[in-house]
Amino acid sequence: MSRFKAVIFDLDGVITDTAHYHYLAWKQLAESQGVHFDHEFNEGLKGIDRMGSLDLILASATRSYTPEEKLALADVKNRHYQELIATMSSADLLPGAVEALDAVRAAGLRIGLASVSKNAFTVLGRLGITDKFDYVVDAATIARGKPDPEIFLRAASELGVAPADCLGVEDAVAGVASIKSAGMFALGIGHPFVLTQADVVITSLKEFNLAAY
Ligand code: BG6
Ligand code: MG
Repeated sequence: MSRFKAVIFDLDGVITDTAHYHYLAWKQLAESQGVHFDHEFNEGLKGIDRMGSLDLILASATRSYTPEEKLALADVKNRHYQELIATMSSADLLPGAVEALDAVRAAGLRIGLASVSKNAFTVLGRLGITDKFDYVVDAATIARGKPDPEIFLRAASELGVAPADCLGVEDAVAGVASIKSAGMFALGIGHPFVLTQADVVITSLKEFNLAAY
């Protein structure tokens, strides 16, 4: 039994670990522009959409960029990222992810995906789990990225469930903020001292226990 009617999952860092691929692609792009890029900086990009991430990186560059130049750089990064994810398979599912999705389904709840990644449909396909979701938000139709609540509110509305009846699952600070401003219960994946706004934090979906929230 669960007091929720839907569970809305983030993708990157929750269901699969694409963070490393984003890291490699952003690092190459940043260094091509003379910007130092390390794991610590990459942490702050988690959950942030592509152009928002690029703006954060280019803030440390020695010159300014036109909108056209920014679009071209984002495209270079994305093509590199797409090369890196091309070989993903179900072996790249994080431990506990499929079990969590199946537990939500078995409990009779609706299942949504709220990722700001425009590559989310490709990644779901490579992982072989597209049909486990009742609704996947198309990030291309979202005007405001996380921490704005828009993406989680869209998922709830398309699932036909009130935000207060939704459990959101996120690994990023910006993502947890998005869930909380949407008026949902936030389950954080990571560390409590990082995801301070989350209602409950677990270290991975291996610990997912729907009845406990
Ligand atoms: C988020 C990731 O899920 O998607 C970010 O956490 C990424 O790191 C963002 O930048 C956008 O992804 P994409 O695939 O649209 O460039
Ligand atoms: Mg994430």
